[in-house]
Amino acid sequence: MSGSYYGGDVSEIRKVLMIHGPNLNLLGQREPEVYGSATLADHTKTTKDALAKHGASLQTMQSNSEAQIVDAVHQARGVVDAIIINAGAFTHYSWAIHDALKSFAGPIIEVHLSNPAAREKFRHTSVIAPVALGTIAGFGGLGYELAVQALFCHRQ
Ligand code: DQA
Repeated sequence: MSGSYYGGDVSEIRKVLMIHGPNLNLLGQREPEVYGSATLADHTKTTKDALAKHGASLQTMQSNSEAQIVDAVHQARGVVDAIIINAGAFTHYSWAIHDALKSFAGPIIEVHLSNPAAREKFRHTSVIAPVALGTIAGFGGLGYELAVQALFCHRQ
């Protein structure tokens, strides 16, 4: 038996929403030794190009507000086929974003540029991970390409 990692038909993934949480608008300027020198626009281009190879399109949103992220997830229901999310610090405590993501039927991939498990203790918990298909962390911008690869991957 073979199928996709999320159990659905990968050819049905046509529209993907990428969500970035607080402070990620400052990528490239904020702690480049931790998060790298690439900007959010650079990561968006990487993701868009990777999705285009699979014939899928990208919508993006970044917000420093938890409420706006919850609203974006609600609006994505039935409109986009998959979500890639780097929730920033909300990763570690936003049960509101967790619950919103739980209401989304398609696959969700969690991405982090750094490896939170190797950092401060408060970063070791992710409340996004339990509602994600999987998490990619610690590989910088490559994580976005890996997320796209994972979305379209087939399980043998
Ligand atoms: C992050 C990790 C989080 O702990 C942190 O709050 C961020 C960025 C990452 O991409 O490595 O803002 O999500």
